[in-house]
Amino acid sequence: MAAVAVAGLAPAARRRRSRTGLLLVCLGLCLGFTLAVDRSNFKTCEESSFCKRQRSVRPGNSPYRALLDSLQIGPDALTVHIINDVTKVLLVLELQGLQKNMTRMRIDELEPRRPRYRVPDVLVADPPTARLSVSGRDDNSVELTVAEGPYKIILTARPFRLDLLEDRSLLLSVNARGLLHFEHQRTPRVSFSDKVSVTLGSIWDKIKNLLFRQGSKDPAEGDGAQPEETPGDGGKPEEIQSEKDEPGAWEETFKTHSDSKPYGPTSVGLDFSLPGMEHVYGIPEHADSFRLKVTEGADPYRLYNLDVFQYELHNFMALYGSVPVLLAHSAHRDLGIFWLNAAETWVDISSNTAGKTLFGKMLDYLQGSGETPQTDVRWMSESGIVDVFLMLGPSVSDVFRQYASLTGTQAFPPLFSLGYHQSRWNYRDEADVLEVNQGFDDHNMPCDVIWLDIEHADGKRYFTWDPSRFPHPLNMLDQLASKRRKLVTIVDPHIKVDSGYRVHEELRNLGLYVKTRDGSDYEGWCWPGAAGYPDFTNPQMRAWWANMFSFDNYEGSNSNLHVWNDMNEPSVFNGPEVTMLKDARHYGGWEHRDVHNIYGLYVQMATADGLVKRSGGKERPFVLSRAFFAGSQRYGAVWTGDNTAEWDHLKITIPMCLSLALVGLSFCGADVGGFFKNPEPELLVRWYQMGAYQPFFRAHAHIDTGRREPWLLSSQYRDAIRDALGQRYSLLPFWYTLFYQAHREGIPVMRPLWMLYPQDVTTFSIDDQFLLGDALLVHPVSDSGAHGVQVYLPGQGEVWYEAQSYQKYHGPQTLYLPVTLSSIPVFQRGGTIVPRWMRVRRSSDCMKDDPITLFVALSPQGTAQGELFIDDGHTFNYDTHHSFLLRRFSFSGNTLVSSSADPTGHFETPIWIERIVIMGAGKPAAVVLQTEGSPESRLSFQHDPETSVLILRKPGVNVASDWNIHLR
Ligand SMILES: *[C@@H]1O[C@H](CO)[C@@H](O)[C@H](O)[C@H]1NC(C)=O
Repeated sequence: MAAVAVAGLAPAARRRRSRTGLLLVCLGLCLGFTLAVDRSNFKTCEESSFCKRQRSVRPGNSPYRALLDSLQIGPDALTVHIINDVTKVLLVLELQGLQKNMTRMRIDELEPRRPRYRVPDVLVADPPTARLSVSGRDDNSVELTVAEGPYKIILTARPFRLDLLEDRSLLLSVNARGLLHFEHQRTPRVSFSDKVSVTLGSIWDKIKNLLFRQGSKDPAEGDGAQPEETPGDGGKPEEIQSEKDEPGAWEETFKTHSDSKPYGPTSVGLDFSLPGMEHVYGIPEHADSFRLKVTEGADPYRLYNLDVFQYELHNFMALYGSVPVLLAHSAHRDLGIFWLNAAETWVDISSNTAGKTLFGKMLDYLQGSGETPQTDVRWMSESGIVDVFLMLGPSVSDVFRQYASLTGTQAFPPLFSLGYHQSRWNYRDEADVLEVNQGFDDHNMPCDVIWLDIEHADGKRYFTWDPSRFPHPLNMLDQLASKRRKLVTIVDPHIKVDSGYRVHEELRNLGLYVKTRDGSDYEGWCWPGAAGYPDFTNPQMRAWWANMFSFDNYEGSNSNLHVWNDMNEPSVFNGPEVTMLKDARHYGGWEHRDVHNIYGLYVQMATADGLVKRSGGKERPFVLSRAFFAGSQRYGAVWTGDNTAEWDHLKITIPMCLSLALVGLSFCGADVGGFFKNPEPELLVRWYQMGAYQPFFRAHAHIDTGRREPWLLSSQYRDAIRDALGQRYSLLPFWYTLFYQAHREGIPVMRPLWMLYPQDVTTFSIDDQFLLGDALLVHPVSDSGAHGVQVYLPGQGEVWYEAQSYQKYHGPQTLYLPVTLSSIPVFQRGGTIVPRWMRVRRSSDCMKDDPITLFVALSPQGTAQGELFIDDGHTFNYDTHHSFLLRRFSFSGNTLVSSSADPTGHFETPIWIERIVIMGAGKPAAVVLQTEGSPESRLSFQHDPETSVLILRKPGVNVASDWNIHLR
């Protein structure tokens, strides 16, 4: 939940914590008019001085030149110096060939005044390198060959440029447009005019040291709590430099906030050209189309984790999370760019074909006059170094595996977390929670988790309970456990400044809060009023936080309590852009500027670690986070933040979650029903239907909205929601298997159609349908009063079976499918096998040993395949003890074979196969089951000639066993 009300007001009003703001918002919500984001609270590129400086660099005439004489090749990297011919400042380029078709390049200052931030903790390991060797050379360039790789790199000296080629075709160029712009650190000084400038470095350093020492007098500052001033910082002033400082370079103000910028301008920018590429995706989080747009004439896409109150759709504004990964797709090739930088980042996209009509492009092609289509991408970050991974595919699955090898895969969620989550801000008290819990049983609806937002804690002191409303949390947890359900409580990273609050006292005494520039504890306004912000970039802080989740420390918690980290951008109501001052100080002396986008990842990391530790390392944690960064997939789930109960917000959930899926974050969802405003019943139904087919399935609502537990609707709507919940629970074995595969291989759960049909141009811009695994195509209804949907069924020679009627359709075609209120258009691809549970019970835990029905959809060739993963559903034993089953089912030559897809796994289970539904089958004379060590037996069956569906009854075989079924 959200930056509320106060966040949308002018900062002065926010500081007074004006009630008017709350009132206005409440009025807005109650009257139902649209309250849009207050854009003036957030910077445009023009208002962000580094973005403006970077963007003012025009293509061509790059001043950078590689000094080929300095080139050195070591076993793991090549280094070469790069000079800026205008400033004469030297940079160093470090180039690495990596295994699996990747290249890494880093650019830093050769002799920085102060080390620049290099993002730690995102890569899972140092990526294995592949040796580079010089295979050609002339006056102005060097050709490099990557051992074991199919590609070559050409390094051009003047102007500096890199080209990556496979065979003779150019895949990607770096600095081809000459937009490398690396702001080296300088001596602070003041300009009196453009011509006269005075070096004030020594004075400046004295002032800084003075301020710093004053800060240290604070008794709260324990030893070692003080962020170290990094060497070189207080150094001697350097020579007067020739370049002039642009406004905003040494100090910047935004609204009433000023950023002191003690290190001056430090931004980095670089361009990448992608010949042959017209379609690019990724760089979440933005509330926009899946396919990225060109940014010419607009602001760039912005990556800066922000709590945006009532975000609007279809713009490039930053939202709660950032993953600086871009994917390019064409019919022939996929590749990815991973820009590892945690500072504020902007991304410009341009294209030489943008604005040309398809007809224009065709004409160009026929006349042979068209250029090759090309997309150019330009990254600009406020600080840090240039650290880029070029992931060269060639297929999109290769890019996924490449990225997963760098940053890890999706954490394997406990089964319950794939069920349905019921949340609102707030369930009032224990009785309310238990009534909602009972409501699901009374109305025969499944639910796994009930959620508590900030009001459950005692005065927003996280890790505590409101003594009057939640006096007996353990009893409440027991009652939920008796229904085999869980509770999630919110634990936010703003800590109430209150000397009677243990969390605050300890963090203050240990010196573990983020500090201001002068070394005192940073304080901001958030839910509890004045709040400190734990410095999660400090490993000691994370260990302390993780320890807070032990059952002793978090009183009233139990093993069926899981956690939600909200507001971890971090959200600061009275801060610039509702977040922390950029000159705040973190562990190691780094500025908040350097670490901003990774702060939220660390919060989720520490929380997930705490939940693992409290179980003695046995249980898989569930933690939801609003902010995220590259690598966040390793710690749990994310959602799209504070959306609104509007049809367009329902639609945008598809591109938003697909964009996250492409960059590794498979466990994505959006608040079902919309957070702000009251959804009309039809919208709520359609949202449940959408959510049932998206990875993280949680209903959530703002405190000022009306209650909307599904049974409060009239019967037609309630029945449609029950049906959607039923479809979700029925497909849990399929979801669980997909998540296991995502965890193992780094391949997304929710997929764009072009992943399976990479050459079908029609699929490249689809925003209203998606695939789950390679088996289900979903086109949820997202229009008010819809009587039908246009579904695109891709694939030459492909067949699709509508999941309810088994009606068969041939691809490719655009199908008009009539719908009713209860329709969720889902198609199973011919050639796949989907496992389901056919009895919907109270929660996933009540169903986990239930028998399985296999839905076999035959391809035109009469074949199909599928997998099923089974384990205990909640521990790490699948990994530590190989306690799991991964079964493979494959159908061909009229025979369905069940075998182990991973013989290293073993697991005893009562689960058996109770039925097999085969779509696209003729009528057999007999059906014979063979299991090892048993005589052949005949199975009874039923065939419907109209639909070509064959149902095999009661094969009765244990899911762990090997067997064959022959249709004779
Ligand atoms: C590397 O690229 C080659 C050629 O494009 C391809 O055959 C190979 O599968 C790729 N390897 C990996 C690990 O992606």
